[in-house]
Amino acid sequence: MERRTIGAAALTVGAVGLGCMPMSWAYSASRQRGAESLRAVHRALDLGSTLLDTADMYGPFTNELLVGRVLKERRSDAFVSTKVGLLVGEQHTVANGRPGYVKRACDASLRRLQTDVIDLYQLHRADPEVPVEETWGAMAELVRAGKVRALGLCAVGARGGRRSGSRLHDGTIRRLERVQQVFPVSAVQAELSVWSPEALESLLPWCEARGVGFLAAMPLGNGFLTGTLVPGEGFEPDDVRARHPRFTAEMMAANQPIVAGLRRTAERHGGDVTPAQVALAWVLAQGRHVIPVPGTKRERWVTENAGAAALRLTPQDLTELSRLPAARGSWD
Ligand SMILES: NC(=O)c1ccc[n+]([C@@H]2O[C@H](COP(=O)([O-])OP(=O)(O)OC[C@H]3O[C@@H](n4cnc5c(N)ncnc54)[C@H](OP(=O)(O)O)[C@@H]3O)[C@@H](O)[C@H]2O)c1
Repeated sequence: MERRTIGAAALTVGAVGLGCMPMSWAYSASRQRGAESLRAVHRALDLGSTLLDTADMYGPFTNELLVGRVLKERRSDAFVSTKVGLLVGEQHTVANGRPGYVKRACDASLRRLQTDVIDLYQLHRADPEVPVEETWGAMAELVRAGKVRALGLCAVGARGGRRSGSRLHDGTIRRLERVQQVFPVSAVQAELSVWSPEALESLLPWCEARGVGFLAAMPLGNGFLTGTLVPGEGFEPDDVRARHPRFTAEMMAANQPIVAGLRRTAERHGGDVTPAQVALAWVLAQGRHVIPVPGTKRERWVTENAGAAALRLTPQDLTELSRLPAARGSWD
C-alpha cells in the first residue's frame, strides 16, 4: 500500500488506516464479535493499513484492550493512535483535560495497549474548565518522557461554530494556534467525507500549510456512503445512527443521489470497484497529508477499504463528485 508521511515527527503510515471504534462502540453492540474484530485488525496490518485508531473511551477501555492483543504480537507492524480527555459518564461523555489526569490516563492506555509507546496521542476533546495549553503541556511531557511519539488534536463534534455564524472549524483553528505555541501538532483528526466536506474550507489548508497530518474520521459517512444501508431498516437503540439526523428513513432516502453518484463513478472504473472505495479515494485525493480512517469490525470490509489506496480518481471523477448534492439532515 502507498505510504504517507505526516507531521513534524515525520510519521509514516499506510495511506488508508483502520478505525477500530465500531469493534466496541457506537455501532450496534449485538454485532460486535471479539474474534472477528481481531481478524480484522490482523488483516489490516497484513495489507499495510498500519494506522490503528482507537481511544480509551471506546468501550470504554475494551477497544484499547482489543488493539493491545494484536500489538502484543506484532507491535512493529502497527502505528497506534489513541485518544485522551473524554470520559463516559452516567448520561453524557465528559471532558477531562487536567494535567494529572492526562498523565495517569496515558499510563493506563499504555498498559491496555500492551506497548511502551503510543505513536500518536490525541486530545479527544478540550476541557472547557482547563486552559488547553495546560492539557497540551502535560501531553508534551509525555513525549519528553518517551511514552508518546507525537501529538494530535481531534476536532470531531465541533458543531457549535456554525450556529454562531462562524465557519465550522474556526474555533478548532484558534485552539490549534494556541497549542502550537506549546508543542508541535503532528495531526488533526476531524470528519471528512463526500457528504461532510466542511474541513476542506479552512482546516485542511491550515494543516497542509504547516505539514500537519489530517486523519479523516467517518470517511464513509458512518456507513451511508457504502450504499449498503437500506432506508427505513432502522438501527439498534445503542447505535449512534438511531439519533443521527441524516439517518432517519426520510433523510436516508433524500440522500440517495449521493450514493448514486459514488456508484456511477465506481462503475466507470469497472471490475469490483465499490462506492465505499470511491468515497475513500475521494478523501485520499484531498491531499498527501490526508489519511482516511474508515471504521469497521469486519475483515471483508478492511480488505475492500484497503483496496481504495490503489484507486486513482480522474479529474472527471473529482469534478462529478464535487457536484453531488449537499447532504440533507443536520445537527444544527
Ligand atoms: N476523534 C473523534 O472524535 C472521532 C469520532 C468518530 C470517529 N472517529 C474515528 O474515525 C473512525 C471512522 O469513523 P466511523 O467508524 O464512525 O465511521 P465510518 O468509517 O464513516 O463508517 C463506519 C461504518 O461503515 C461500515 N463500513 C466500513 N467499511 C465498509 C464497507 N467497505 N462496506 C460497507 N460498510 C462498511 C462499518 O460497518 P461495521 O461496523 O459493521 O464494520 C461501520 O458501520 C472511527 O473508527 C474512529 O477511529 C473519531
